[in-house]
Amino acid sequence: MRSFFKTKTAIALALSVAAGTATAEDVEVLHWWTSGGEAAALNVLKQDLEGQGIGWTDMPVAGGGGEQAMTVLRARVTAGNAPTAVQGLGFDIIDWADQGSLANLNDVAAAEGWDDVVPAALQQFAKVNGEWVSAPVNVHSTNWVWANKAVLDANGIAMPETWDDFVAAMDTLSAAGITPIAHGGQAWQEATVFDSVVMSVLGPDGYKAAFIDLDADVLGSDGMKEAFDRMSVIRANVDDNFSGRDWNLATAMVINGDAGFQMMGDWAKGEFINAGKVPGEDFLCFRFPGTSEQVTFNADQFMMFDQGGAVSAEQAALATAILSPSFQSAFNVVKGSVPARTDVSNEAFDACGKKGMADLAAAASSGNLFGSMAHGHANPASVKNAIYDVVTAHFNGEYDSETAVQELVDAVDIAK
Ligand code: GAL
Repeated sequence: MRSFFKTKTAIALALSVAAGTATAEDVEVLHWWTSGGEAAALNVLKQDLEGQGIGWTDMPVAGGGGEQAMTVLRARVTAGNAPTAVQGLGFDIIDWADQGSLANLNDVAAAEGWDDVVPAALQQFAKVNGEWVSAPVNVHSTNWVWANKAVLDANGIAMPETWDDFVAAMDTLSAAGITPIAHGGQAWQEATVFDSVVMSVLGPDGYKAAFIDLDADVLGSDGMKEAFDRMSVIRANVDDNFSGRDWNLATAMVINGDAGFQMMGDWAKGEFINAGKVPGEDFLCFRFPGTSEQVTFNADQFMMFDQGGAVSAEQAALATAILSPSFQSAFNVVKGSVPARTDVSNEAFDACGKKGMADLAAAASSGNLFGSMAHGHANPASVKNAIYDVVTAHFNGEYDSETAVQELVDAVDIAK
């Protein structure tokens, strides 16, 4: 075992030197955490590894939601030069595991007792055919709204609890000359908003039937038309420069008081925290109106790519570091997400983080926890992308709501 390991390390060193990338003692990590808040969180992981004498070769691929990162990953794997560790989401992890690209982490998982502490909702993506293939970092959820408290107070707006309250709040801000909704016009961001809107209109059973079971009747229902109509209302409340805007720049609009609200996953909280803002004082976090009991989640995980043998010592160290309770607390406090283990104290978390942890636990036990369509936890990428195309085309005025419903039914049918 030992000599095999030495040989493997020597080969890895020779290969990586030839490729001009990481040294054998480094981990090369491909990820899309490039915003201020994301980079601050990633730093927690880098420092943890550096403390163990493991170097870090950074392979950032900008682009929220990770689509660009996945394109780069496919090219690297095709070229026979997979990075050591790669940020991955949901069904993408299962795909890579099915293709035989991922190292087996069962020994690390057994030594660290992952089976007992990682919630079932995450294990369904981290464990494929009984093998642990990735290390869960966090749990994010997508059905949040972020608001600038001073802007709301100045305009006499209370936290909206229903869709009608929310529409009234948007109208008030509009009349006051403030952009109601900060939005970045990218397909994954529109899909993120759609997660919440569909949940609010169709409820948990409808969300599951539409996005997880891909039930054509529900995809083509009047409720789905109502969801598209609500997307049109949201579209009418964004500023003129929304096209192509990155999500963190939309968050900055709320931070700076240039807009009232942003619908975005709790990685947005990382931006508020990074800007020194305090929940309850400077900003508010609340569930999208009509989804207060539901959680649509996505979990970032690190897949360890098979480097031609057993999991390497560096990969094992990275996986162990990621799942350690102290790291789970330190990282997620900064990232805006909540721990991927059920046994981490909420003590270090701010009010939004504590709410996130409580909401997740409650949703899991009441059957209200669902994988996010927008972030690859409801379907494989082919279906997800088919939904993206329709939602984005509708948001940009290419389809009216009725056409969008029909296009959605057809696109999902072809993709599934
Ligand atoms: C999500 C990811 C988050 C956050 C976000 C924006 O897909 O799970 O961690 O990074 O994209 O980049």
